[in-house]
Amino acid sequence: MNLLHNRICKSAKWFEKVERHLLPWALDGVPLGGNLLEIGPGFGATTRVLARDAGAMTVVEVNPKLAARLRDKVPANVTVLEGDGAAMPLPDAGFESVVCFTMLHHVPSAARQDELFAEARRVLTPGGVFAGSDSLPTPRFRLLHIGDIMVPLDPATLPSRLERAGFTGIKVEARTDRLRFRATAG
Ligand SMILES: C[S@@+](CC[C@H](N)C(=O)[O-])C[C@H]1O[C@@H](n2cnc3c(N)ncnc32)[C@H](O)[C@@H]1O
Repeated sequence: MNLLHNRICKSAKWFEKVERHLLPWALDGVPLGGNLLEIGPGFGATTRVLARDAGAMTVVEVNPKLAARLRDKVPANVTVLEGDGAAMPLPDAGFESVVCFTMLHHVPSAARQDELFAEARRVLTPGGVFAGSDSLPTPRFRLLHIGDIMVPLDPATLPSRLERAGFTGIKVEARTDRLRFRATAG
């Protein structure tokens, strides 16, 4: 992430937006199971809220500095792993829910995003839920990503990509600046 992006993602304003608006919208009606995995926690805005209701929670962060920083900040029910969501150091079928928020556009190619979807499916128990949200490319979003990775999802193709990864019951909804998705491990 570039410097501006970093500043936003660790700001009190972002933490408040995540808690009050983003997570309630993204997870509205999504039943998260007791053993939860989050991919791409960043500075922990999403983790902080999710950890309150989670039984055990694991987060996988690809940036070593952010993973180390987060390790000092999370509550005792959260395990922080440094790793890539597209090749996770985790066993098959170990989680009831996998979530990711505002991170998929940072994965450098659609092929790598598909690998991440396949990994989410692999680590879920059958019937487990994969859910999340991501930004859509508005002018502000493009400005924010100058000099940064930006591979936005296409809401029209996301359902078939999730289906290819082994998910069923797929729902994708888009508004101007953001999409949310939910799917079941088939
Ligand atoms: C914009 S931040 C969002 C963080 C947090 N989910 C939030 O909403 O505040 C995206 C995070 O995803 C991480 N990330 C990007 N690609 C990743 C991957 N392949 N595996 C795990 N984490 C990844 C980045 O390092 C960054 O910390």
